[in-house]
Amino acid sequence: MNECLTLNVNGQVHELDVPSSAPLLDVLRNHLGLKGSRYGCGLEQCGACMVLIDGVAAYSCSREIGTLSGRTITTVEGLGSADALHPLQQAFLDEQAGQCGYCLSGILIAAKAFLDHNPDPTRAEIAAALDANLCRCGSHPRILRAVLKAAADMREKVA
Ligand code: FES
Ligand code: FES
Repeated sequence: MNECLTLNVNGQVHELDVPSSAPLLDVLRNHLGLKGSRYGCGLEQCGACMVLIDGVAAYSCSREIGTLSGRTITTVEGLGSADALHPLQQAFLDEQAGQCGYCLSGILIAAKAFLDHNPDPTRAEIAAALDANLCRCGSHPRILRAVLKAAADMREKVA
């Protein structure tokens, strides 16, 4: 059954008429053209699909769109822009933190949610926070370095 609902995605309000059981990931990618969030497993086991729902990192592969009317979604496209990268995006570039990059949008989202609550984390705390995000390329050491760098850069900006 289709459902009419309103969704704020990356600051833009969308009126959608989609099956209420459609996964949020499907709506983002195939209705709104936001391809940054990735499909990995579809089973809440890899983190490639993570987005922020009202600021909280969540799997979009399993979240039915019908449960989200009126909510605010942030995808990796909403973190920064090509002209003004988010400090996490800049740090991932600086540290060359990805290889294939498939996992990175989910990891950037998870890291953003984590740093919002813990701006001065240890490496171990970051590793624990990203435990649900798999990287098949084994880039985790560089990813952890990048998140530590982004946290330091963000603290410096605030100081
Ligand atoms: S695609 Fe959602 S957790 Fe893997
Ligand atoms: S960089 Fe390839 S899966 Fe993480």
